Parts: sequence; structure tokens; C-alpha cells
Amino acid sequence: MVDLTTDYLGLKLKNPIIVGSSGLTRSLEGIARCAEAGAGAVVLKSLFEEQFKLNDRSEGTGLYPEIMDYFQSGALLDYAPRKVVEIIKEAKKQFDLPVIASINCQSQRHWIRFAQQLEDAGGDALELNIYTLPIDPDKSGEEYERSYLDIVESVRKATNLPLAVKIFHQITALPNFVRRLSEAGAQAVVLFNWFLEPDFDLRTMSSLQQKGQANFHLVLRWICLLAQRVGCQLVASGGVRSGRDIVKLILAGASAVQVCTLFYQRGLGVIKDLLEETTAWFNEHGFKNLSECQGKLSFKEEALRVKGSGKAEVFLRSQYIRLYTD
Ligand SMILES: Cc1cc2nc3c(=O)[nH]c(=O)nc-3n(C[C@H](O)[C@H](O)[C@H](O)COP(=O)(O)O)c2cc1C
Repeated sequence: MVDLTTDYLGLKLKNPIIVGSSGLTRSLEGIARCAEAGAGAVVLKSLFEEQFKLNDRSEGTGLYPEIMDYFQSGALLDYAPRKVVEIIKEAKKQFDLPVIASINCQSQRHWIRFAQQLEDAGGDALELNIYTLPIDPDKSGEEYERSYLDIVESVRKATNLPLAVKIFHQITALPNFVRRLSEAGAQAVVLFNWFLEPDFDLRTMSSLQQKGQANFHLVLRWICLLAQRVGCQLVASGGVRSGRDIVKLILAGASAVQVCTLFYQRGLGVIKDLLEETTAWFNEHGFKNLSECQGKLSFKEEALRVKGSGKAEVFLRSQYIRLYTD
């Protein structure tokens, strides 16, 4: 009997499959479906700072009128902070399922305020969905990184909830940055944030933003390179389509995996298939539990295995040269 339980953020998950933050987790009914389908945990749909501002008109929204129209059209208003608090309270009463709340803010004050509200509501953990593209030519990478670290430090001080930080892949030196996130108080980092990709509509000559295709191999690479080297847990998010993908991410060193698109495409019933495929692989390879297998192919383990490879750079360089001289 294979034991797929995993420890994530100090919570015991019955398996490593987390339904990622999305429309699938924005209501109590949605969470019920995830629990019934056997998910290991859920991350609630992110709350955006703008939703607070709509609730609290005293401070003015500072939003463009077009954006105001969108928010007020109901798309986001029906997912207000107060409602999320109710969802968490009910979900904790009704289901035996860890509930991780997610927030995306701009200002320090709102990150803190929301974290405290969620802690009071009984959320099990908090995912900070930090989404700021480094687009300002006057701002250095260090300045951007400092601003992310400030958010984590201030939320850490304001709450006792375990913290995961969902980051964007566009950071110059990820290992150093992730280690600093861990030192700032993050227990886990989610690799990577959902991203939008630009396109142009040539008929109307206007720009468009569409959801980008997740890059499974980008996630696999960084889980592999960071595992056991940065002081915190790692969770994969992006491009998981099969049980084999889950096995690869665990071998790389992930503590859990977040999945969305596959559930939109094939329904939550596919969780059962993913677990069966993962279990079959574990059985075939003689692993009894997840921790025995976790990180077996991480960069750290690989580098230790290859005698004399020395520093990380030397190991990677030797791999690169081997491929290019074929
Ligand atoms: C429809 C949809 C809505 C999403 N909304 C959010 C969100 O509000 N906050 C967030 O952090 N991620 C959001 N995501 C990203 C997912 O949480 C997750 O990181 C990503 O979708 C995982 O990759 P996959 O879709 O290839 O499984 C969303 C994804 C989808 C498909």
C-alpha cells in the first residue's frame, strides 16, 4: 500500500494534489466538489486588493472607470472579502480538507489586513500571489525583489498563518531570491505564477492579453534546481497533465503540485486517475511513501551522485557540453 500523504505548510495532506486558485475554488459548492473528488487541499480563488476598495468606498478606489465597470459588473463583486470569510468558516466546518486562502494586493496595508481577516476566519494557510512584472526601466532587479520581501516580512509579522508565496519566473537569480523569501518568513514557494501573454488584434489594431500556456519543463527545472537548497518547501504549479508529471515533480523535490487547466478540461474526476497512475509508478519502483521518492532526482542529489562534479555550475556545464557535442 503506497502512502501518498505529504506535509505541506505544516498541514497533513492526504495526497499531493492541490486544486490551484481558480474559479474551481471560488464557492463552497466548488470546494465541496474538490473534497468529494479526493483533492489533497484547495487554494481559494485569489482576492484582489481592488475588491477591498470596492467594499470600502471611504478610501476611494483609484481605479480607471473602465476597470470599475468590470469589477462592478458582478464578475468580482460577488466574491467579496466578507464572502470569502464565510466560505472558509463553512468549508472548515463541513469538509476535512485543508483550505489555503490566496490574496493579490498592491499596498502593504491591504496584504496585512487581509491576512489577519483570514486568520480570524480559520483559514489553514495563506498564499501570497505576488504579481508585479518588472517593467520599470528606472527600477533594478534588487528593488523589485526588495519590494516582494517587504510584503512577506510584513505579513509574517501580522499573522501566525503558514505562508506560501507564489512567484513569477522572471527573477534573475531565483535560488538566492527564494532563499531570501524563506528567511523573510515564507514556509513554501509556489513555482510559478499564472501569466498573461500579449498578442495584437490586427483587425482593430489593439493589444490583447491572454492566458499563457504553462511551461511544465520550466517548473520542473526550477523545482529540481532549488530543492533542498533554499530553506523552504516547493510546490509546482503549471502544466501538470498526468500522474507521470506528478511523479516527475516529486522526484525533482516538490512537496505538492497545484493543478487547474486539466480539471477545467476533464473535470475533477480525473484526480482519481492521477492518483492511480502515481500509485502504480510508486509500486512499480518499490517506493512505499512520498518522502522516500521526493527529491531523488533533484539537482542537489544528482550533483552529489556525479563524483567530482563539485560546484553546481560545473555540473550544469558538463551536462550542457555533453548534449552539444553529440
Ligand atoms: C481559470 C483560471 C483562473 C485562475 N485564477 C487564479 C487566481 O485568481 N490566482 C492565482 O494565484 N492563480 C490563478 N490561476 C492559476 C492557477 O492557480 C495555477 O497556478 C495554474 O493554473 C496551474 O497551471 P495549470 O493550469 O497548467 O494546471 C488561475 C488559473 C485558471 C486556469
